[in-house]
Amino acid sequence: MTEDSLDTSPFENDERRIRTTRLVMRKVIAADAAEIARQAGDKQIAMMTARIPHPYSLADAKAFIAKPGDEFVRAVTLVSNGCLVGVAGLKPHRDGRAVELGYWFGADHWGRGYGTEAAQAFVDFAFVSSDIECVWARCRVINAASRRVLEKCGFQMRRMGILDSVCAGRVSTEDYHLDRGAWTALKAWGGK
Ligand SMILES: CC(C)(COP(=O)(O)OP(=O)(O)OC[C@H]1O[C@@H](n2cnc3c(N)ncnc32)[C@H](O)[C@@H]1OP(=O)(O)O)[C@@H](O)C(=O)NCCC(=O)NCCS
Repeated sequence: MTEDSLDTSPFENDERRIRTTRLVMRKVIAADAAEIARQAGDKQIAMMTARIPHPYSLADAKAFIAKPGDEFVRAVTLVSNGCLVGVAGLKPHRDGRAVELGYWFGADHWGRGYGTEAAQAFVDFAFVSSDIECVWARCRVINAASRRVLEKCGFQMRRMGILDSVCAGRVSTEDYHLDRGAWTALKAWGGK
């Protein structure tokens, strides 16, 4: 998601699953490769992300699962039946004070609130499990759904940016930030 990365992640040895009412976010496993390849093979997803190529092969999915790098990656699955509906991750910034949130969901599963539910849970996890000061996320200016997810989680647009997307090329983005103080206030208020 960004070239700025840490040698070690604050979540590196964290084996925990993240749970919400409808979702379980667990480690990605080799058996997820076919489903990740199928869902992430949708060009609509690649066009909105930084690092997903198109076409996206089974070998790409296997390589991603084998080497997620310094990113804290989780498969987002349904409590009801265990189906994988997407992937989310936290990538540490090299200053150790911030992480970048990223996510994608299979098109079959859009519009059911999973994106917001998972993003909110990841934000909570990031602030509760580490001493980072900020979670940030970057979405393309044309990505109204992701912008809405971020706004619903309490993020605020900080600045415009540029992303070199493997699939979409050089594109304009909006960078969203949620700092610890704002997150704490939102939690105390109980609205998020
Ligand atoms: C962005 C994405 C994660 C959203 O996932 P999702 O599970 O459909 O999201 P949710 O159902 O939680 O909520 C989406 C919100 O965006 C809104 N939305 C969806 N499409 C929209 C559009 N074209 N214009 C405006 N709002 C839109 C929904 O109405 C909903 O808001 P609401 O609850 O106020 O009605 C999903 O579309 C996706 O994976 N897209 C491709 C990859 C991607 O964009 N990743 C993020 C990169 S920054």
